[in-house]
This record gives sequence, C-alpha cells and structure tokens, in this order.
Amino acid sequence: MDKELVVVIDFGGQYNQLVARRVRECNVYCEIYSYKTDLAKIKAMNPKGIILTGGPSSCYEEGAASCSPELFDLGIPVLGLCYGAQLMAHVLGGKVAKAAVREYGKTEVDVDTSSELFTGVTPHTICWMSHFDYIAETAPGFKTIAFTADCPVAAAECKEKKLYSIQFHPEVLHTAEGSKMLYNFVRNICGCCGDWRMDSFVEENIQAIREKVGGGKVLCALSGGVDSSVAAVLLSKAVGNQLTCVFVDHGLLRKKEGDEVEAVFGSNGSYDLNFIRVNAQERFYAKLKGVEEPEKKRKIIGEEFIRVFEEEAQKIGTVDFLVQGTIYPDVVESGLGGESAVIKSHHNVGGLPDYVDFKEIIEPLRSLFKDEVRKVGLELGIPEHLVFRQPFPGPGLGVRIVGEVTAEKVKIVQDADAIYREEISNAGLDRDINQYFAALTNMRSVGVMGDERTYDYAVALRAVNTVDFMTAEAAALPWEVLQKVTSRIINEVSHVNRVLYDVTSKPPGTIEFE
Ligand code: XMP
Repeated sequence: MDKELVVVIDFGGQYNQLVARRVRECNVYCEIYSYKTDLAKIKAMNPKGIILTGGPSSCYEEGAASCSPELFDLGIPVLGLCYGAQLMAHVLGGKVAKAAVREYGKTEVDVDTSSELFTGVTPHTICWMSHFDYIAETAPGFKTIAFTADCPVAAAECKEKKLYSIQFHPEVLHTAEGSKMLYNFVRNICGCCGDWRMDSFVEENIQAIREKVGGGKVLCALSGGVDSSVAAVLLSKAVGNQLTCVFVDHGLLRKKEGDEVEAVFGSNGSYDLNFIRVNAQERFYAKLKGVEEPEKKRKIIGEEFIRVFEEEAQKIGTVDFLVQGTIYPDVVESGLGGESAVIKSHHNVGGLPDYVDFKEIIEPLRSLFKDEVRKVGLELGIPEHLVFRQPFPGPGLGVRIVGEVTAEKVKIVQDADAIYREEISNAGLDRDINQYFAALTNMRSVGVMGDERTYDYAVALRAVNTVDFMTAEAAALPWEVLQKVTSRIINEVSHVNRVLYDVTSKPPGTIEFE
C-alpha cells in the first residue's frame, strides 16, 4: 500500500525522536534517517515532506553535518528546525554566524500569522530556544516570518519553493503552539491527509501477518511487558493457536506478577494461543549466588533467560517464525548509535537465542513508538493495567537489589514494593509518576523496635518523572504518602528497619540502582 510518508533527517540533535513522534501525532507516518543517507534513496521513498532536525554542529565549520543543495530542489516541502534551519540558510546562500548571546529556554516570539506555517497561531507566543549560532541573513528568496528580542530570524519561508525554517524547537512541549506549527507543515503545506491511525494499523497488520505466516508455527517470548504483550496479542488475533508464548518466570518479577501474566495469557485468559509458563526461579537464584557486580548480574540473568527459553523451544521443535517485540526507538538507536558510552547494558541483555530452530523473525511493532504501541494495545482490548504498565527492566528485581541476590532479599523487595505501589495508587498518583519502585540497599543499620535493638536492611523508595528516561527528576511525593508507606513497610515487611527516599535526579544518578 502506498502510505503517506514524511522523512525526518537526523543531524544528531537530542529531540529528534520527539520530532517524529509529534509528526505521528498529526496522523502522518514518518521515518527517521541519518543525514548521511543517499539523496537518491530519500527521493525513491517519495516523501510528501522532509524535516531537517537540530544537531550539535556549527554548519559553517569544516566537516559539519550537511546536506546536498539538491534536497531543496526536489519540489518536496522542507522544514528545517534549529540546526536544520541554519543549514538550509547556509546551503542556499544565507549567512549563519555565532550569536552574541546564547538563547536558551522559554522565549517570547512574534510570528507572522499570514504564513501558512503559523495559521491559527497566536501572533505573540512562547517558544523553546536552544542555540549558539543564528541566521544573520536569510538566503535569497526567503522572507523572515518570526523574530525574538535576540534572534532576528526565528523563522523564515520561501513560499514558492515550500521551504520553511524555524530556529526554535516546535517539537518540545515548552513551545506552546509547536504542535500546531508541525500540523500546519505536514497537513497543510505538505498536504498529507493523515492516514496513519492505530485502528487501521491493527487491521492491516493482522491481515499481513496472516498472509505471511500461512499455516506456519510461531514462537514468542512473553515477558508481560507492554511490547511483548501487544506483539503476542496481535499475533494471536492473526493466527490463533499457531502461536506459542513462552513466559519465563525468573523469580525477579514484582509480587504476584507471574500469576497476573498467567491470568491474562494462560488457558483461563481471553486469548487464543498456547501459553507455557516456566518457573525457573531456583535456577536463576543459583546462578546469581555470590555475584555482586551489576553488569555481571545483568549478563547472567540475560543468558540464563535465553537458555531457559531455548530449552522450552526445543521441546516444541522447529518453528517457522520467532516474534520479537522490537519497537521503533530500538531500530533508530541501533542504526544511529555507537556514539554514547555504555553506562548500563540495557539493550544487550538477552539478545537472540542461538539454538532455537526458526526460519524468520517477525517484528510487528518495529515501526511504532511506545505511545503508539499502547494505543495498539488498547485497540486490541488488552487490559489497561498491562497497557499502561510502567517500565520494568528485563533483569527485574535483580538490578533493584544492590549486591548479591537471594530469595530472601527478593521477598523483602517484592513486599516493600507492593506496599509502595498500593499507596501510590491509593493517593491517585499512579498515572502521574513515570516510574516508581522500591529497591533494597545493601545497607544494614541499627534501629529500635519495641525496646529491642534491630540490625536490619534499609529499603529505598524511588519515584521519577521523565519524558524519555534519559534524564529524570525525582518526584516531589507528598510527605503524608511517604510517611504512610514508611510505616507500613516497617510494620509489615520483616528485616526492614529503615526507609529512605531517593531524591537524586538523573544525571548524576540513574533511575535504577544498578
Ligand atoms: P537507568 O537506570 O539507566 O534506566 O536510568 C533507564 C530506564 O531503563 C530501564 N532499565 C532497563 N531496562 N534492561 C531493561 O530492559 C535493563 O537492564 C535496564 N536497566 C534499566 C529502567 O527501568 C528505566 O526505565
């Protein structure tokens, strides 16, 4: 099917996935490509519009990320954002220079509402600026359509050629009317009709999977997380019990979580599939005995997970397809990555099994952002508690127990965490905080309970707000909630005599403790 497409060309800025997400919110499908991608390849995709993103370089410096001038002669509307705006000016003969003052943060901007880019936008509005360089002179044929106190060209257009540039960031929420501007570009200027909708995604994909799989057998590793659950249900709707889902309970799940997954996907659940639960707790605890180093723990858990999965798969025999819950940020990050230091090996835990006999991989969510995966989940009728589940790391409580993992410590952290989640939910805060959990510090300290000296563990509570989990702020939880959780944990969970609240942001902390 010939789908409308907008191409987002990535110059390495920090908000680039956000640009793509905002475009998709306008019901327009878009894909991100590196600025190094061949122009011929981009042209062959027949995009209805092109967006150039921000980036860290200065476009006039040697070796800076660039683009061919022909990009602007394809007859396709182009919108340059921040670095993309400067690059457009630079390549087409304008002048970009270092600004006398760095503009950063929320800034008042005056926009020319007669430009199609600003239709419906308030003439005097707020935008998010973040730049050192600025457009000192627009390129020939361009007209300035926005300015701020410090930035003479906050936006420019060459209407005849449908070329537009914006110095600020319409993709971040701090730009009050940024979504409207992006909507104006993709829907009005590029003329996209907005055919990217999750209900049609579900219908089309069920059909496509059915055709691809035919009478074949499909195997899926189900974790109970959003991605693998949505992938499994999509497959189940397409091919029913040709699908087998293997759920490995590694004993590092939250309290009762294994049973909850089984209740939804097992034989008493509502889906047509074969569900196999493997209770492998003891195996994992045995492998983790005496191991304290976080990356080593991750590796052991990841490898053991694969071994257990392989053993189960071998019992089933040859399958035709293996389902992976890969989502679009994984695709983008693996394509463009390699620059950032490995702080934690999040995405290389697990990997692909070596000894499972399958012919092909199916990745039904490969083109979707997380919020789109959730929408698909709701379309498919998956229970909300699963669809809106907060992120949970693959190695589970293994990285929330500082130091050696033991069955006893798992029980402590599960019980404390269950109380914490219950109270957060009682206080009506569960949808407001992006991630929250209890962790077990490896610290024991002295306390007093009922006139007796105690020497027990300290539980740490964590709650963070974040957009992308790359940076995060500790949530300011109400004192009464913290007090209630603390007193319940001390009273109800044995071997805990102290509760701490972690107020560290990320950076310098990370969200998980290991
Ligand atoms: P950090 O701790 O690096 O976490 O600030 C950022 C986000 O990633 C999750 N996380 C993981 N997810 N495997 C995963 O699948 C891992 O090993 C892992 N470590 C951290 C974490 O829960 C948070 O959402």
